[in-house]
Amino acid sequence: MATVEERVEERPDFSFGDQSVAASYDNVLVPLLFTPWATQLVERFKPWHGLTVLDLATGTGVVADMLAGHVGPAGQVTGADINAEMLALARQRCAGATPPVEFIEASAQSLGMPDASVSVVVCQQGFQFFPDKMAAATEIFRVLRGGGRVIVTTWCPVADCEYFGAICEALRRVGEVAVSDMMRVPFDFMPAAELASYFEASGFEHVHVRQEQLPFTIDQGVPEAVQVAYATPIGPKLRALPEEQQREFRHALTTLLGELSQDGQTMGRMASHVLSANKPG
Ligand SMILES: C[S@@+](CC[C@H](N)C(=O)[O-])C[C@H]1O[C@@H](n2cnc3c(N)ncnc32)[C@H](O)[C@@H]1O
Repeated sequence: MATVEERVEERPDFSFGDQSVAASYDNVLVPLLFTPWATQLVERFKPWHGLTVLDLATGTGVVADMLAGHVGPAGQVTGADINAEMLALARQRCAGATPPVEFIEASAQSLGMPDASVSVVVCQQGFQFFPDKMAAATEIFRVLRGGGRVIVTTWCPVADCEYFGAICEALRRVGEVAVSDMMRVPFDFMPAAELASYFEASGFEHVHVRQEQLPFTIDQGVPEAVQVAYATPIGPKLRALPEEQQREFRHALTTLLGELSQDGQTMGRMASHVLSANKPG
């Protein structure tokens, strides 16, 4: 049987390194999905005052921007990401941040930062994409100071992230199994026990993983929610389908989302694993 890494590696097309994907991510998914989750994370792990924080897989910088407002003048925030397209938008978002946010283009497996140089590493919905997760956990351990903390979030399977489950199911109904499997990459391949195991094996203590939930809400209802599917990283694959098949996909997704949404705005629940652990002091 293929390992988790091989299963993800089989779908190399799932990429944030494309300008249109980065722009759609920032314009559509960040306000709808990643901002509410970032707000919850930053609130949950307060206080941040005076801390030196690395936002790993910073994307377009939503977590880094919020953290800059919380660490205050005595603190420092660095955002790292492998994709220049995401970092360009992160720099724009954080242009006025105080203290200024520094951004580095680096892979999670090799950050190029000094040993023991940060007090917290935060990674919101990035860990599941790292090709060598053990190397990434080891690198996080290396850059943290003794007594420092790591906070990592990864989505639960699509059965618990119902809007994305509906996209996967609609794609299967129109015969697009490969694209459906691609949409599952951020969700289905990071069981909680496996997530914890990388941090336990790299020397962290007090490794805890809990599940948190938030509703996924789209004010304009189902028609807008169908369009949002085109703003995910599979958007280019959807637009490349023949128009007739796209119509069938939109019809199937409209039906599935109609069944999910109770109040016309909530497109089911989203659930995420939230890991926290400490480097021994
Ligand atoms: C779903 S986005 C999350 C971005 C951000 N943390 C947020 O909450 O909006 C995943 C990010 O992981 C980044 N990424 C994927 N593989 C990476 C790697 N090996 N090293 C660093 N970043 C990576 C992608 O470029 C993308 O920006």
